Amino acid sequence: MAYKSKDWRDSMRITLDYNNVTDKILGEKGFTKKQFKEMKGKAEQAFDFVKENRGKDELFMGWTELPYNQKEIVADILATAREVRSKFESFVVLGIGGSALGPIAIFQALCHLHYNELPKKIRKGPKFYVEDNVDPVRMKELLDVIDPAKTCFNVISKSGATSETMTQYLIISDELKKAGVNIKDHMIFTTDAKKGNLNKISAELGGIKSYVLPDGVGGRFSELSPVGLLPAAVLGIDVNGLLAGAAYMDKICSKRSMDENPALMSAVIQYMAMQSGKNIGVMMPYSDNLKYISDWYAQLWAESLGKNKTLTGEDCNVGQTPVKALGVTDQHSQVQLYTEGPFDKIVTFLSVANYTHKTPIAKGCENIPDVGFLGGHTMEELIQAENKATAIALSKAGRLNYTITVPEVNAFTIGELLFLFELQTAYAGAMFNINTFNQPGVEAGKKATFALLGKAGYEAMKVELDEAFTPDDKYIV
Ligand code: PA5
Repeated sequence: MAYKSKDWRDSMRITLDYNNVTDKILGEKGFTKKQFKEMKGKAEQAFDFVKENRGKDELFMGWTELPYNQKEIVADILATAREVRSKFESFVVLGIGGSALGPIAIFQALCHLHYNELPKKIRKGPKFYVEDNVDPVRMKELLDVIDPAKTCFNVISKSGATSETMTQYLIISDELKKAGVNIKDHMIFTTDAKKGNLNKISAELGGIKSYVLPDGVGGRFSELSPVGLLPAAVLGIDVNGLLAGAAYMDKICSKRSMDENPALMSAVIQYMAMQSGKNIGVMMPYSDNLKYISDWYAQLWAESLGKNKTLTGEDCNVGQTPVKALGVTDQHSQVQLYTEGPFDKIVTFLSVANYTHKTPIAKGCENIPDVGFLGGHTMEELIQAENKATAIALSKAGRLNYTITVPEVNAFTIGELLFLFELQTAYAGAMFNINTFNQPGVEAGKKATFALLGKAGYEAMKVELDEAFTPDDKYIV
């Protein structure tokens, strides 16, 4: 059944305005029509690659089908979420990277900005925490504010072998034992269908409620799978809206022409930016709700594109450093650099057309013109004016910038936004002819941690690391 009416869906369409990367606005610093035209072939090849390979598990492209193939899973998730909402005081996600950044982004985007501080009667669901680090202080202090016996823990790990998540699992299981409760009643796993340590643990404990992170879906592309859908449903977020928004964006991006396909156009702009030395990509949402979309995007973009070999084996060392900024806050911190520093950046603004609250600015201080002029406007007008003013200032300084506008922040538009960036990343990876979906650099760090902590089978690596990386006092001051 279609999600809301067609008119409503169309009114929620995200737009991409790339005037401020063109020579029309930026003069010689902007891209010319000819340059866009020259990208046509590459863009079409990238489009064809993604289209031909979508859904293929062996290429880790299963994420393209998540908006369509989860009807039964969603029903199950909604039933579990109802139970969790009625039984528990807190819901804690234990996970890292692709298993955490999506849930954090969606929580910030679609829940009250002070959700945990709201009275239970208004909040309706449990308090929510995502523990995506192994900072010892943070774990201790989480345990200061939750009662494990009244908490449901969602352990999310595809491999079940990530040291950070499994450390958290061990500590929390022990806390549950100490609290005298049955671990089984307080944990939900989200993991691989069959493989991995969480499946072994589940079997040992007599079967823990588990959701599957599908085979062909990598961590950073997993937000629209049970990784993100279960926490969202527990928070009372409209998960069908998220998936419908993703499907809507998928349809918009089914056009082969980059002039009609916003994800493809965004990938083309970023590709051209990188080719012209803009190795830093700043994402600057003008919305606290969208603040952690930048964190989620940073992983998606960095881990997918930061590669040293092409698919055909040539050295390449490509990628772009994602930087997170928040409008207007970072106008008073980073924008000076963006306007006058090196020409090594492209800025993506995330703008909101209609904020959930307009928040009027009270009149006052009429005899102090510097202050009085603000009264009678709304905070929405102010933040939008500052967003526009920053884009103009950057453009006047010849800096590449473009704007993605969300009509309003809701489950549907967030689904659109996530899918737009996932497609953009897949297209950009195809343009570079790299493997967008692996992360050998992350795996290397995981293995070095195993060696340093004395895991069996990593003895030789430990010796090798100790020999090569024992610090020389000469270089310590
Ligand atoms: O995107 C990725 O694949 C990574 O960031 C992983 O999500 C992260 O390393 C956690 O891995 P796992 O889910 O196996 O615990």
